[in-house]
Amino acid sequence: MTRGLAAETQAHRDPVESAMRVLTDTGAFVMPPADLNRCIGADENAWTRFSSHWEELVPDRYAAELGTRRLRRYGHFLFRPADGYAELLPHRAFAQPEDSNPLYIETDRYFEPLTELFVEDPLLRGLLRLLGHVATALDDVPEWNAKVTPFRVLASADGEGQPTPEGLHRDGVTLVTSLLVGRHNASGGESSVVDLDGHQLLKTTLSEPGTLLMGDDRRTLHGVSPVRALDPAEPAQRDVLVITFAPR
Ligand SMILES: [Fe+2]
Repeated sequence: MTRGLAAETQAHRDPVESAMRVLTDTGAFVMPPADLNRCIGADENAWTRFSSHWEELVPDRYAAELGTRRLRRYGHFLFRPADGYAELLPHRAFAQPEDSNPLYIETDRYFEPLTELFVEDPLLRGLLRLLGHVATALDDVPEWNAKVTPFRVLASADGEGQPTPEGLHRDGVTLVTSLLVGRHNASGGESSVVDLDGHQLLKTTLSEPGTLLMGDDRRTLHGVSPVRALDPAEPAQRDVLVITFAPR
């Protein structure tokens, strides 16, 4: 984290206030797990339950075509900041707009829907409310389209796992966020956020579950370095939840 970001973070005790200020000023912010737990009222039991949803993910065949073992599901919600209302919308293809992800521009990809238990999990609901509130610092819109993607990247002894096979990219949204849910036997997986001129804003390895990285996707690009197995006898695993907000 840069010195400016650290100073800003300390200057504002309310983590939501900090997130909104730093995100607006610099374009990227990391919220530590203790602050996130305070914001959404999550405890250890809540995290144990929440992380169990990652056991229900299914292979991403598009990533497999690029040689990466990645599991995922996908769902999208309508979010209304005025009253914090979040509604799961009918399942449909995942498309990223023009001028964002170079690998998948205007390509529809079909992913399995989120499980019912995941959709109703209070921790997810708390995250949607928090992030929907933070998003209003970037843009004042009455309704957001929130895309929710739990990912698991795997790497075995003979290869690396690519969390972002496309490299540095934009998602074509307003707010892009990445929450670390779990890491096992993994090295690497370093997150980078750069501005549109390529200047680095932030470089950090999300290592503690509950760490939340947020970025203003309109003026930054993000990417994650490859994941490798520490112990070659078993696979490396990196579980994250990516949630993006774009105006409806
Ligand atoms: Fe992305």
